[in-house]
Amino acid sequence: DKGQYRHYMLKEIFEQPTVLARTLQGRISKTKVLEAAFGADASGIFDKVEGVQIVACGTSYHAGLVAKYWMESIASIPCQVEVASEYRYRKVFVPKNTLFVTISQSGETADTLAALKEAKKSDYLASLVICNAPNSSLVRESDLVFMTQAGPEIGVASTKAFTTQLIALQLLTIALGRRHGLSADQEAKMVAALATVPDEVAKALTLDTEIKITSEKFADKKHALFLGRGVEYPVAMEGALKLKEISYIHAESYPAGELKHGPLALVDADMPIVAVAPNNELMEKLKSNLEEVQARGGKLFVFSDQASAFPSSDDVTVINVHSVPDTIAPMVYTIPLQLLSYHVAIVKGTDVDQPRNLAKSVTVE
Ligand code: F6R
Repeated sequence: DKGQYRHYMLKEIFEQPTVLARTLQGRISKTKVLEAAFGADASGIFDKVEGVQIVACGTSYHAGLVAKYWMESIASIPCQVEVASEYRYRKVFVPKNTLFVTISQSGETADTLAALKEAKKSDYLASLVICNAPNSSLVRESDLVFMTQAGPEIGVASTKAFTTQLIALQLLTIALGRRHGLSADQEAKMVAALATVPDEVAKALTLDTEIKITSEKFADKKHALFLGRGVEYPVAMEGALKLKEISYIHAESYPAGELKHGPLALVDADMPIVAVAPNNELMEKLKSNLEEVQARGGKLFVFSDQASAFPSSDDVTVINVHSVPDTIAPMVYTIPLQLLSYHVAIVKGTDVDQPRNLAKSVTVE
């Protein structure tokens, strides 16, 4: 039932404050992550983990890429991320005491399931799935299970599944991190920030009207470039995937520092550039990347916060997101990008919930 909403996708975007709260419920105390959320055996396994291999497809793969930044910077352990269709057919080297993690909304994605089956023949410490479908194949086949509480996702384009996966992955990062130098104080700070995610996401949703107006500037465009740096780069990748899936606009994502190495050649007045730009340690570098884009006549759409003080102009549309701690910025900045792709699709008149050529769950190779 779509309720008051015109599409399932919009309903699911707006459900995020509720389902994110549900995904956190019982998984954190005021100051700590509660490891039982990963299964009764989780703590004993986590004690031994020295590295993480993440495998997933599509949007779930992008969640994994965000987690790589977290794992290495917060948990101080190596983390590899790969799409399942590549992983499954490759001879892999498995470092000692590596945890094999799959991420899947449906739990039935054929390549991800095949990758897990391959992994079970290798020398992994254990397998963990982050999944939204309780009775799914991936849940049955994995040693440890973390259930996201997004509820059924009907729209083909994944929205609430992604942000709840990010919550799960940050809880995992903290659980592993506390064994590798993450202090109780740092953990408490991160947990406090996580507890604000539902409210911050609700604030981001109030940008809906502004984004709807902005979306009209994309309607006649054939291409768009999405830029981010650091942990916001995979957020930009996910933004580009959403736009191409439901509006059929060719959208590419790049880490902003790569512009000069090729993609800058594409930039002209017909190429909108979307930048994910919270005020973090990479902000100044990103700003100078974006100045290069502007100098070539590119039209910029910058998702930023007040603190970044991004000047708007005829060629620069700044959409101000409420300022949040770096650790939760990926969850929050995903929201306006989901809304952007939704409204662009509406302007273009595409079938938002059922984009052409796509299926909700890819159960064949
Ligand atoms: C994109 C999308 C797909 C899925 C991918 C993996 O909006 O929905 O890219 O993310 O097919 O599906 P799951 O997470 O069910 O394994």
